[in-house]
Amino acid sequence: MSKTIIVSNRLPLQLSIEDGKVSSEPSVGGLATGLKSVHRDSNGLWIGWTGLTVEETPQELESDIEDAVQNQQCAAVELTQSDMDGFYYGFSNRTIWPLYHYFMEYAEFDSENWEIYKSVNQKFADVVLENLEEGDNVWVHDYQLMLLPQLIKEKRPDVSIGFFLHIPFPSYEVFRTLPWRDQILKGLLGADLLGFHTYDYERHFLSSVSRILGHEVSFNEITYKDRHIKVDSFPMGIDYEKFHAFAKANYEQTDKTQSELQRRLDLHATATPDAKMILSIDRLDYTKGIANRLRAFEHFLEKYPDYTEKVRLVMLAVPSRSNVPQYQVLKKEIDELVGRINGKFSTVSWTPVWYFYRSMPFNNLIDLYTSCDVALITPIRDGMNLVAKEYIATRIDRTGVLILSEMAGASKEMNEALLINPNDINLIADTIKEALEMPEEEQKKRNKYMQKRLERYNVEKWAGDFMTKLDSVKSTQSVAKATYLNEKQETEILERFKNANKRIFFLDYDGTLRGFVNNPGDAKPDQALLEMVKDLQSNEKNEVVVISGRDSVTLGEWFKNVPVTLIAEHGVLKKYYGKDWELTETMNNDWVPTIQPVMQNYVDRTPGTFIEEKNYSLAWHYRKADPELGEQRANDLSNVIRELTSNHGLSVLSGNKVIEIKSSNVHKGKASNNHILNKNYDFIFCIGDDWTDEFMFQDLPEDAVTVKVGVASTAARYYVDDTDHVREVLTKFRQASS
Ligand code: ADP
Ligand code: G6P
Repeated sequence: MSKTIIVSNRLPLQLSIEDGKVSSEPSVGGLATGLKSVHRDSNGLWIGWTGLTVEETPQELESDIEDAVQNQQCAAVELTQSDMDGFYYGFSNRTIWPLYHYFMEYAEFDSENWEIYKSVNQKFADVVLENLEEGDNVWVHDYQLMLLPQLIKEKRPDVSIGFFLHIPFPSYEVFRTLPWRDQILKGLLGADLLGFHTYDYERHFLSSVSRILGHEVSFNEITYKDRHIKVDSFPMGIDYEKFHAFAKANYEQTDKTQSELQRRLDLHATATPDAKMILSIDRLDYTKGIANRLRAFEHFLEKYPDYTEKVRLVMLAVPSRSNVPQYQVLKKEIDELVGRINGKFSTVSWTPVWYFYRSMPFNNLIDLYTSCDVALITPIRDGMNLVAKEYIATRIDRTGVLILSEMAGASKEMNEALLINPNDINLIADTIKEALEMPEEEQKKRNKYMQKRLERYNVEKWAGDFMTKLDSVKSTQSVAKATYLNEKQETEILERFKNANKRIFFLDYDGTLRGFVNNPGDAKPDQALLEMVKDLQSNEKNEVVVISGRDSVTLGEWFKNVPVTLIAEHGVLKKYYGKDWELTETMNNDWVPTIQPVMQNYVDRTPGTFIEEKNYSLAWHYRKADPELGEQRANDLSNVIRELTSNHGLSVLSGNKVIEIKSSNVHKGKASNNHILNKNYDFIFCIGDDWTDEFMFQDLPEDAVTVKVGVASTAARYYVDDTDHVREVLTKFRQASS
């Protein structure tokens, strides 16, 4: 039976060696806690790191470790201490984590760490490939494994690969500062579906792909090599049922079954019935805004002294990444702040901040969630924040107030919370007061909406939606009408070619024989290309026609010493070798003075664009413009021109980063068909990359071998990856011709 393989740096279990025995603890952090239930309910496999390095693993305990891992349907990736230093503490948590959370000043760009990050991603890929069986899906998680999708895709292009990022994806302006930005994006594009918590992260990613890699992005789809890749947002949910059920059990428990923590919390509540408790829970991380939270609480106590002895902040900070210097500095800062506040405000019977720096068992977490009147969650940046959702899920009687930072992904779905800017200390202090004084009816009304939403879009639904989408992406990829030109098909086509006596090749130029460059004038044919075309033409059974949208002067100059037929300006002009250019149709240019100024206006307003004037057409090029602005203006311009030229026999062609206006009765399809008329070719090959070539694919006889460069919907019968692939195919014809 096929399975889903989850891959993340951290497994849901953390192993350690205590008193010569293997001990296992559940992992902390949104990724592991969230996905645990999804994994538990499937027959899948989870691949990741156990928490123990190779050096920390005693030989005699190896089989116990394997058992512990296998018991939870997991498989381990073995990492050394040096891997951990360079990959985990290094590149993941000293480069990507701060950069993606907009802490640019903390981001270190160290090429040794980058090398280790690459090699550890390869280690993960090796374990995935070992465990991969026919029909399996792979779901890769988070920023530690951004190269993994491509590493798997290279070896197993048939496998569906999903990727989910649990942290923010920053804006292009921040992401572009990363020296390895191209490699990271290419690594991610090995996936067939990429998921983010929010639409903002999704659009930041799409904008980086378009600006940095220059790939075509249409809405939420990227065309990359021979694949369409989907990008979407899926806000991660929690295991609502579990939190709700544990909270219910907590309310119903007796003195005997209560935890020590719960007893202390209850004691506090009965001793001071008017006093309220505010909860703060996070990993000790600088992104979580813990210091600002303490400062805001301090300001609150100063501003509203009536609350002395009437409110307590219960703060749980879970130790995290303590080998990274910024986390050590933060720990010290928090210790000092707690000390200062308690020193300043404590009375004989009251300490304003209860501070725990440790991990806690799940039932204690529930004790805290259910006992506190307010949850104060104020991250400076946070991909999602599950604690906010968990707090709401545990409020059985629907009381309780959530104060939530608008910089957390969760704020997008939790509008009924009191949303704050985490840098506005005064606002947080005032909001604490508002929360403490909020009438119960109001609390219940707000929580009801949030609970309903959390219950409906729980973690199971989240994972289910992602996997359904992944399946649908894969199935639409495989039903693309054109067939990929692989070796088997090439051999069949070559066989037909060899058996034919009168053969013709229609070759488009830009995007087919030659890759795109920023300045069209720089796309001259290289020597290897000229030699290949010459050789192909030198066989007397072959005829080569270069058919392009280029103007006749440029095309004539580039191919002046090559004995081929040239068709320029999308079919307007034709030239046999050694002869002059001839018009294929009667043409006129009297529309140019009307259209030219309109186009010029778009050039003036869109930096990086220009007009190319041909004999019988005008082309507006926008390859060098900002990609998003370029697309927007191109859309605008074609609409404006369509309106102006209706009923004037003109057509507006949208090519690859170019809009072209020309007489509508001429196109490449008509030109190529006229060319072969009454000549009895028994092998017709036609290759092109853009919209203007579709006319040929449609109009040429049915038995023609029509080939599209790149993936897009097309009337061609076959498609190839890119211009390198075009040359490989033509080289085979050349060899078969000699
Ligand atoms: P992050 O993923 O950045 O750590 P989240 O709020 O998204 O932040 O996720 C934190 C997860 O860790 C939550 O599911 C929470 O229940 C869990 N958690 C937080 N504190 C503890 C703790 N002390 N012990 C066990 N689990 C914890
Ligand atoms: C965040 C990250 C996870 C990570 C978790 C705990 O939720 O998105 O990938 O596992 O924090 O961090 P740690 O470094 O302990 O794995």
